[in-house]
Amino acid sequence: TTVRIIGAPTDYGANRRGVDMGPSAIRYGGLADQLAGAGVEAVDAGDLPVPRAEERDPDADAPSEGKAKFLRETADVCRELGDEVAATLAAGDVPLALGGDHSIAIGSLSGSARDADIGAVWFDAHADLNTPATTPSGNVHGMPLAAALGIGEFADAEWATAPGLSPENVALVGLRSVDGAEAELLRERGFAAYTMSDIDERGITDVTEEALSVASAGVDGIHVSLDLDFLDPNAAPGVGTPVRGGATYREAHSAMEIVDETDALRSMELVEVNPTLDQHNETAELATELAASAFGKRVL
Ligand code: ARG
Ligand code: MN
Ligand code: MN
Ligand code: MN
Repeated sequence: TTVRIIGAPTDYGANRRGVDMGPSAIRYGGLADQLAGAGVEAVDAGDLPVPRAEERDPDADAPSEGKAKFLRETADVCRELGDEVAATLAAGDVPLALGGDHSIAIGSLSGSARDADIGAVWFDAHADLNTPATTPSGNVHGMPLAAALGIGEFADAEWATAPGLSPENVALVGLRSVDGAEAELLRERGFAAYTMSDIDERGITDVTEEALSVASAGVDGIHVSLDLDFLDPNAAPGVGTPVRGGATYREAHSAMEIVDETDALRSMELVEVNPTLDQHNETAELATELAASAFGKRVL
């Protein structure tokens, strides 16, 4: 396998500055060495061009109903990322996108699901299923899964849709902060949703195996989206929206090892690392380790 690293240094979708430094921090945290340790070849495509948020008007492309900050900028980056991801897959390689905030997943998913049927596993404290009408914050990093699935106001957003992704093949793991409208969607649309309580009761192995079998059933491959706030803030303090009670260091590694063992990984992203809130770059380093586990690194 050749992994192609694509940096998407955005913070348009987040409520605080800092995640735009994620790609640098993750590279500096040893991504290349970790991937080498996993036995995969890695090529670095560099960063996509992302204008600084201060130079832009957050409401330049405000939706007619509801709110979504920096939607125009998010769409621009996601189109470019989608093209990069699709081209990487067409060349037979595996794209690894580095965020940036979680809005970049709209690009990864649309690129990965452009010419194939895919599933997705969403490792996250949050469901990221808000829409401009339901969002409590206006931050697009709380909306990428809804956008990719064409839910609500995203129904006609062609830039956002992931044609080959359907809700039956989406599994969310690690949930502990879900907004009211998101909970409704999760119940109504038949998503496979696993909360931290499910992990407490059943263990990370059982839950992750089930999530991966849901995501990979009858599709060409899966996209793994790893929001570092999936982990407990004790293990991953450098994230913009930390929520207590998350996965432990070991649980997160086990989950990524199961991703590797499932042998269906098609595309992946590491998002929401915020170096300005981190301690000695440990969250970025952790992101590199977890990517290595997902790509097959083992002790023995
Ligand atoms: N649900 C909240 C919102 O819509 C928080 C979303 C956090 N998302 C994330 N990718 N960190 O604003
Ligand atoms: Mn999150
Ligand atoms: Mn997220
Ligand atoms: Mn393997």
